[in-house]
Parts: sequence; structure tokens; C-alpha cells
Amino acid sequence: MLRTHTCGELRAESIGTHVTLCGWVQKSRDLGGMTFVDLRDRYGITQLAFNLEKDASLCLEARKLGREFVIQVQGTVIERSSKNNHLPTGDIELDVTAFTVLNASKTPPFTLEDQTDGGDELRMQYRYLDLRRTPVQQKLILRNKVALETRKYLDNLGFMDVETPVLIKSTPEGARDFVVPSRMNPGQFYALPQSPQTFKQLLMVSGLDRYYQIVKCFRDEDLRADRQPEFTQIDCEMAFVEQEDILQVFEGLIKHLFATVKGIEFPEPFPRMTYDEAIHSYGSDKPDLRFGMQFKYLYALQGKGFAIFDQAETVIGMVVEGAADYTRKQLDELTEWVKRPQIGAKGLVYVKYNTDGSIKSSVDKFYSEADFQTLAIEHNINAGDLLLVLSGDLAKTQKQMNELRLHVAQQQGLRTTGEFCPVWVLDFPLLEKDEASGRYFAMHHPFTSPKPEDIALMDTHPGGIRANAYDLAMNGVELGGGSIRIHDRSLQEKMFTLLGFTPEEAQAQFGFLMGAFEYGAPPHGGLAFGLDRLVATMSGEESIRDFIAFPKNNSGRDTMIDAPSMLAHEQLNELGISIKDHAH
Ligand code: AMO
Repeated sequence: MLRTHTCGELRAESIGTHVTLCGWVQKSRDLGGMTFVDLRDRYGITQLAFNLEKDASLCLEARKLGREFVIQVQGTVIERSSKNNHLPTGDIELDVTAFTVLNASKTPPFTLEDQTDGGDELRMQYRYLDLRRTPVQQKLILRNKVALETRKYLDNLGFMDVETPVLIKSTPEGARDFVVPSRMNPGQFYALPQSPQTFKQLLMVSGLDRYYQIVKCFRDEDLRADRQPEFTQIDCEMAFVEQEDILQVFEGLIKHLFATVKGIEFPEPFPRMTYDEAIHSYGSDKPDLRFGMQFKYLYALQGKGFAIFDQAETVIGMVVEGAADYTRKQLDELTEWVKRPQIGAKGLVYVKYNTDGSIKSSVDKFYSEADFQTLAIEHNINAGDLLLVLSGDLAKTQKQMNELRLHVAQQQGLRTTGEFCPVWVLDFPLLEKDEASGRYFAMHHPFTSPKPEDIALMDTHPGGIRANAYDLAMNGVELGGGSIRIHDRSLQEKMFTLLGFTPEEAQAQFGFLMGAFEYGAPPHGGLAFGLDRLVATMSGEESIRDFIAFPKNNSGRDTMIDAPSMLAHEQLNELGISIKDHAH
């Protein structure tokens, strides 16, 4: 080894020992007779001291060290005269006797400190430098811990890590596939897996019983803060289980991860609600339960002559506790906010229940004080509270109110970092109707089993079928989801028919799976967590990008390696692909 210790390791107990360290020059300071250099590696920072009087030439050499030079130093650990309580190594410094420059460095394009001046694009282009920064390294360190503890927990329960192929045929998880041309089969393409769904089910047919894999998945979809085109799942499947068994095992996993990685215990079972309850009370299938503000359905405000409410399918209110002192300006801003095209509400009605007992609303013309007081009693609204009301079509208004709920909670500081509120959302609908085409789509995926008691609805009212499907949400983020699967050929065929497949199409795409169901497929089910989302949520962050060592930017590009990129003509020819106006 080129070093005896790391830069995060030395403490007062080591005073007097002779050590060798390696690392990067974070910064240096010349204080007349002394030069101090902060030497950094993954483990921490150790201060190096050079004494001009004691060894002038060494000190002068040290003054030539630039930021990010990588050096090896020898010296004696000594007590620091001015200690630094913020650093674990802050009691000591190294009295350097010799050093070697292992490699020089150009001046980095942005400062490599906790707070950097580098913009997103620059940091992504020089991701290897960005990754030298402690906060970014901490995120990957956390990710590693979560992955390791996941393996320990699942291994302990007999789960087996099995690798599934990456060059496959399209698996419908609702996004577009990334495809890979096959040279040996001109004109034919592999698809990269959107998830290992069908393979993990086949492994259950094979009798492997408990499978897991920490696995890359690929989805060609529009990017958001919590989405990347390639991301990682903790993908799991179990045979001979019912939904309750899966919820128990994976609630256990999340509890294990929080306990071992963050020292946070969840003494109670995770709360559960049905999909219908989640939509009714929060307008979202991944409600943020760090705060209340459940929806109130204000039918009492209909039929009083206010045409907008009278004509609306629904009127939904939300109580913001202690916010009756919102100013006119704040309320106008909220109104403008809900009217933006992204939210699409026509307007916002407010009722202020002032602390002095008076009531002021934007629709005073249509309602008496008594009307509002009745509302207050019915819905538990107190003096000092603000009631915000939206109306319109049911589904749309629920969606808009969900956005408003999150927005106001953010303003009110209710989305507390460091607080974690998990919730299982159960009984998802099996199918979702696309209003434009009138076609049904699988809400989770086509392999999800209907609830046995709802199977009869397949012929009469497909939209009303509930699935044995579940999600785990936390703080408004969908961490994972899964289902009990169909393991019966005829039911699977029926499902494909509902989804608009002809028998031939179903056979061509999924004949392998349905065929497997004819050879003793056991009842099975599973789920997958998004690892990137899980670690970001555990860190109280919304963007998953920094939790991935080499992520893509918002246009799906890796600007560091400049991918995707054009191919040379020869390579395209070899693949049997012709592209018009190809630049090469
Ligand atoms: P699903 O499609 O719900 O289920 O995906 C499971 C979890 O993966 C994460 N996730 C993503 N994370 C980052 N970027 C993305 N683009 C992205 N897409 C999904 C989410 C999500 O909850 N095969 C099924 C699982 C099963 O039924 O067992 C599946 O893939 O956290």
C-alpha cells in the first residue's frame, strides 16, 4: 500500500506515530512561517503542516501544490495548536517530513467543496470530479449500505440472487423500450428489460421459490426528478404466498434498512389504505402522510346559487390549520398557482375562519355566515383556519387538490425532512381506461391477478375489477410496488383479451409465459422497490440523480461520455440499419 492510514482515521491517540498518507490537496494556506494543506480522501480530511523555519525547501515545495494535486506524504502526527471541532481529525495534524507529487492536476472547472459553484451541466460533464465532493460521495456510500443490508436481509430469509438477461424481448411495464439491433439477425432487435418481470415469474415456475436481484431496468420515458432512463430495482418474487405474506416480508425489509442504515425504528406496523381511500382523501395513490389536510367533500356548498359549485360534479375543500392570516397577496398567488396550465383549475375559493370569530370568504355573496358555521361544525374547522376549495370533475379536482395540498404543505413547512411516513396502498384497480382510445390498460402490468372475488366482473364491468396489487409510498414518493400474479393460463389469456390482444398476438408475445403456466406453475407474487428512490427518500431528497454514480441529464444524455451518439456507416451497415441523412 502507498499509505499507512486514510485521511479520516488519525486521532489524538496516534500522536507521536510516523505515518504515510495519500490524497488530494483540498486547499492550502500560507501563514508566514507555516503552510497548511488540507489533504482529502474518501474517508476525511487531515491537515498537513509545513514549517518554514524547520525545513525551508520542503515548505517552499509545498507552496507550489495546486488544488487537486494527488500526493503522498510522510510525517509525524502532532497535536494541533488550534483544534477544529468540526473535523473528526481536528485534534491533530501531520508534521510533514517528506512528500511526493503522485500526479499534478489542472485547476478544476468548479470548486470541489461541499458547496460548489459548478452548475448542473458542468458537474455532469466532469462527474468524476463532482464525485470527489463529500456530499456526493456520502450519497453513494449510503446507497452501498442500503444495497448491502438489502442483500443481508433477503439472504437471511432464503432469497436467492439470480441474474436475468438484459437482451430480451419487450416486457410491457407501460413505458417505451430501449432496443438493441442484432447483427446476427438483421432487422431484428432485442429490447432492454423495463423490469425482469416475466423472468422472475419463470423462476418461480422453476421452483426457485424466493428470488431477488438488485438489477438495472431501462425505460424510455420522459425524465423527472425521480425518474432516470436506467435505474435500479430491488426486484423480488416469492412462491406459495398470499398478499399479506409479501407485505410482511417487505415491510420487514424497509424497517431493517431504516434501523441498520439510519438508526430509525418504526415500532408500529405501516399504515394501510385502499387505493380508493387514498384517492378520496388525498387525490393521490402515493399520499404524503407527514401532514393531514385530508380532503373534505363540501356538498353543503352546492344548491345555494353559486353556479360554479352548483354545476360542478364535486366540491372539495382542504383545511390549512392556523392559516386564516394569509394575506390577500398570498391568496392571489395561490389562485394564480392553481390556474397555471400544469394544474389547470379554473379558480380557487377561500374561507377564512378568523381568530376573532369573523368569517371572510371570496364567495360571501352566495353564502351566509351560518352556512360557513355549519360547515365548520361538520368538518371540524377552527378559528384561525383557512379553508381552500376547488370544484369541477371529480377525478380532475382530486388531482388538482393533491397538487395544491403538497404546495401549501411545502409553503407551511409541513414536509419535514427527517420525518418518514410510509403507507401501503392496497387494492389498486386492475385496469385503467384510456379515454381517448376507449381501451383498457393494465394499471400495474398484465400479469397481475384480479382479486378472486372480482373475477366475475371480467365479463361485465372490467373497469371495476380490483387487483391484488399494492404499492409502498413514503413522503409522497412511490418507493415500490408489486402484485400477486396470475399463474393460470386461461386467466392470463382472458387478461390479454381484455387488454385488446388477439389470441395470436398474446401467443406471439407471451406464449413462453403462458406455456410455462401449463407445467405446474405455483401461486406466486412479488414486488420491486426503486433503489434510487429509496435512498433519495431516506436522505430526504427528491432528486435521484445524485444517488446514481453516472446519471443521465434531463434529455437522457450522458454529457461526459457524450452518449447517445451517431454510429459509423460501416457499423450501421453491419447491423442492417439505414438512417436517412445520417451525419457521418
Ligand atoms: P414498477 O413499474 O412499479 O413495478 O416499478 C417498481 C419501482 O421502480 C421504481 N421506478 C423508477 N425509478 C427510477 N426511475 C424510473 N424511471 C423508474 N420507474 C420505476 C419505482 C417503482 O415503484 N415488475 C414490477 C414490479 C413487480 O410487480 O414485482 C415493476 O417494475 O420506485
